[in-house]
Amino acid sequence: MILPIHVYGSPVLQEPTIPVKENTPELQELIDNMLETMHGASGIGLAAPQVGRSERLFVVDVSPLVKEEPGLPEDPLVFINPQITEEGDMDEEYEEGCLSIPDLREYIVRPESVSVTFLDRDFNEKHLEVDGMLARVIQHEYDHLEGILFIDHISSFKRRLMRRRLKDMINGKVQADYPIYTWENQGA
Ligand code: NI
Repeated sequence: MILPIHVYGSPVLQEPTIPVKENTPELQELIDNMLETMHGASGIGLAAPQVGRSERLFVVDVSPLVKEEPGLPEDPLVFINPQITEEGDMDEEYEEGCLSIPDLREYIVRPESVSVTFLDRDFNEKHLEVDGMLARVIQHEYDHLEGILFIDHISSFKRRLMRRRLKDMINGKVQADYPIYTWENQGA
């Protein structure tokens, strides 16, 4: 089932998430719905708060980027209770967007590589050391679990330039080509 994606202004996007305690049919259903919602919105990552949930969980599918960056995993990845355990010394600047902040893109500096431990959807413990686009997407989604959005990383000057469009989003004056939930319209 495709879930409406919460847009900037919805408080759940700025709240930290809660670790998942057990594998339940409800959790598996949420994961399926998040994958379907991400794919329906042509996204490459989606975190639980973006569908109004507080589970410490995100999904990633970087398969659309395989042509640009061969070697990326071609299957969707599920990250339950992830922890970034190490960040590379090198920083990299890359343009980011977010399904919860439609039409706004900005260059963001982040470590070029990270190590992450997590549970996959079968609750197997996993450890990944990644760089490139996968590291970028994981860090962006990981931020969502801490209530942090990519625009929280930009300078206050650039943020001021975005103020009107952000205010429009809070007020529900925003459109996307996928179902959205705005704080003002409550899912209308
Ligand atoms: Ni995002």
